[in-house]
Amino acid sequence: MWVSIVGVSWGLMVSSSLEELPAKEEWMNNEAVPEGVTNTTSLYHSVYDQLYARGYHRNKNITHAKELVEYLGPMAWIESVLDVGCSHGKGVQLLWEAGKRAAGIDIAQVAIANARKWRCGDDGCTRERCGVDVCFQVASATALPFASKSFDAIISTDVLEHIFSDDVPEVVRELTRVARRLVAVKVASIIERKNYAQKQALHLENLHVTTQRLDWWAEAFTNNSAWKLQDVIAHYESKGFYAGFAASFAPRDEK
Ligand SMILES: *[C@@H]1O[C@H](CO)[C@@H](O)[C@H](O)[C@H]1NC(C)=O
Ligand SMILES: *[C@@H]1O[C@H](CO)[C@@H](O)[C@H](O)[C@H]1NC(C)=O
Ligand SMILES: *[C@@H]1O[C@H](CO)[C@@H](O)[C@H](O)[C@H]1NC(C)=O
Repeated sequence: MWVSIVGVSWGLMVSSSLEELPAKEEWMNNEAVPEGVTNTTSLYHSVYDQLYARGYHRNKNITHAKELVEYLGPMAWIESVLDVGCSHGKGVQLLWEAGKRAAGIDIAQVAIANARKWRCGDDGCTRERCGVDVCFQVASATALPFASKSFDAIISTDVLEHIFSDDVPEVVRELTRVARRLVAVKVASIIERKNYAQKQALHLENLHVTTQRLDWWAEAFTNNSAWKLQDVIAHYESKGFYAGFAASFAPRDEK
């Protein structure tokens, strides 16, 4: 199952043995969909619109997509990439700089407005650069507005832990539908410890509503028997406990 460990140069990453590290119980969180919520997609829109309106991800230089971009960068066969949960678009910009055509979607309107404002500047968000007509658009990972196999790869950084576990099969189905050859994700396995006072107003205990380790996520992807775990890119630790991972998935018939 553990195919390969690639790259060793990033921040918190330590080694493959991290898969043995214990989870810290109070950092684990599997939040139920709040009572009365019938449409989680509109809840995501509402929560993240409110957070962004209050300054969430306001620093346009900060992205955690770098390691996934470094992972995909050298793969010549990956020419087009979609960033799911692209925030202000820095990850998409890094993909452009790595020579890929790239586009992004995000659930929050302010995120997409910022992405357009900050990334589409000088050269514009052209079809040539983005691979699609609309480079940045508001959309949910539960319903990607693209035809099947529209992109060679999808990346998604620090997004899946924000999805209720009930929605995970649907999101995985969408990612593996729209990506042709690879889905690379970076996922936190612990609660969000930054104290976003704002979120108190949002009826969520924590923005990380599903904090599971790689084995659980790998099952979510490989439950679709046409896909397999491709690479374990990194495991992360924090204060001696397991904190998350980066990994990729590919169709079984992919090399
Ligand atoms: C849930 O809300 C989204 C918009 O937030 C909408 O596109 C979708 O159709 C809704 N789903 C259902 C089942 O009503
Ligand atoms: C982002 O980086 C640019 C270039 O290094 C710098 O001029 C700018 O102040 C930075 N912006 C923020 C919000 O840190
Ligand atoms: C995988 O599929 C099984 C059987 O349908 C299901 O019980 C399980 O919850 C799924 N795992 C994940 C992580 O979605």
